[in-house]
Amino acid sequence: MTRKKVLVTGGAGFIGGNFVQYMVDKYPHYDITNLDLLTYAGDLTKHSGIEGRENYRFVKADIADRDKMMDLFQQGQFHYVVHFAAESHVDRSITDPGIFVKTNVLGTQVLLDAAKAYGINKFVHVSTDEVYGELDFDPDTFFTEETPIQPNSPYSASKASSDLLVRAYHETFGLPVNITRCSNNYGPYHFPEKLIPLTISRVLNGQNVPVYGDGGNIRDWLHVWDHCSAIDLVMHEGAIGEVYNIGGHNERTNLEVVKTIINALNQSEDLIEFVKDRPGHDKRYAIDPSKLTKLGWNPKYTFETGISQTVEWYLNNKSWWERIISGEYQNYFDKQYGI
Ligand code: NAD
Ligand code: DAU
Repeated sequence: MTRKKVLVTGGAGFIGGNFVQYMVDKYPHYDITNLDLLTYAGDLTKHSGIEGRENYRFVKADIADRDKMMDLFQQGQFHYVVHFAAESHVDRSITDPGIFVKTNVLGTQVLLDAAKAYGINKFVHVSTDEVYGELDFDPDTFFTEETPIQPNSPYSASKASSDLLVRAYHETFGLPVNITRCSNNYGPYHFPEKLIPLTISRVLNGQNVPVYGDGGNIRDWLHVWDHCSAIDLVMHEGAIGEVYNIGGHNERTNLEVVKTIINALNQSEDLIEFVKDRPGHDKRYAIDPSKLTKLGWNPKYTFETGISQTVEWYLNNKSWWERIISGEYQNYFDKQYGI
C-alpha cells in the first residue's frame, strides 16, 4: 500500500498542532510533514510526544516563500495538503492588518501554485465561519454554505480572500480542493490571547477577565478534537470542490462562557471587568453543520463536557501556558487592554 504523504501547514499552532498529533497517532502508515514558521503563535514543545516518530517530520519555513514552497512540494510529492497556517487573531488584525494579507492571502496563493505545479489529490483549506460576517440575535438563523461572504474584520477579509483564491484555482485550473468553515474552537494548546484560554489563565492567576462591551455577543463553540475529526472526514470523503461548514450547535454569549469557567474554577464573578468593545465586533455566529453531518460526522463533546476537559487540561499543563504568558505576551496584553 502506498504511504500517503500529508503536508500540514501551521502544525505548530493550536488547531494544526492538535491535528498533527491526531494524524500521527491515527495513521501510522501516512507520512505527516508539519510546515510552520514558528511565529509568536507556534511552538514545538507541544509535540514532544511525537518527535522522533517514524511518520512525523517538521520543516520550518514561511508559506509565502515561493522558492522554498516549490522545493518542498517537488521533494515531498504530497497526496494531501491541509492548510491551517495563518495569522488568526482578530484583535491583532485590527492593529496590524498587513501581515494578515501577506500570510493569509499571499501565503495561500503560493501554496496553491506549488500544489498546481507538482500535483496533489486534495488541498483542504481550513477557513472560518467569520467569512460570512455576522448574524443577528434571531436564534433560528444560521450560516449555511450558501450564505454570502461578507467579512467585517481585516482577519476575516484576509481569510475570505484566500477562500476565493482556493475556489478560483479549482474553477480555473481544476485543482482538487475543499474549503472548511468552522466555528470557534477551544481545547488543549489554545494560545491565551483568545477568550477561553485567556479567561482560564487569568482566573487561575487571580486576575481580572476583560469582557468586550456588554458580553452579549454570541459565538458557537466546538472542541478542537471534534474539528480534527471533521477535517479528517472532509480530507478523505469530501466531494471535490465543495465547501463544508463545521459546528456543533453550542451557542453561548461571551458572558456565559466566562461565567462557566469562573464557576468551574470556584472563583468569584467579581473578576469580570467590562472593557471597551472591539471595533466592528460581530454580534453572533452560528453554524448549520447539516451538510457535514450527512457525510457522517458528529461531534463528541458538548460545551459542558468540552469546557470541563479543557479547564482540567490547563490545570495540568500550567508550565505550557505560564511560559507563553511570561514573555513578549505581557507587552501585547498591556498594549491591548491597559488593565
Ligand atoms: P494559531 O494562530 O494558533 O496557529 C497558526 C500557526 O500558523 C502558528 O503555528 C504559526 O506559527 C503558523 N504560521 C503563521 N504564519 C505562518 C507562515 N507565514 N508560514 C508558516 N506558518 C505560519 O491559529 P489556529 O487558531 O490554530 O487556527 C488555525 C487555522 O484555523 C487558521 O487558518 C484559522 O483561520 C482557522 N480557524 C481557526 C478557528 C479558531 O477558533 N481558532 C476557527 C476556525 C478556523
Ligand atoms: O469563529 C471562528 C474564529 O474564532 C476564528 O476564525 C479565529 O481565528 C478565532 O480567533 C476566533 O475568533 P473570535 O474573534 O471569535 O475569538 P476570540 O477568542 O478573540 O473572541 C471570542 C469572543 O470573545 C469575541 O466576541 C470577542 C470576545 N472577547 C475576546 C477577548 C480576547 C472578549 O470579550 N474579551 C477578550 O479579551
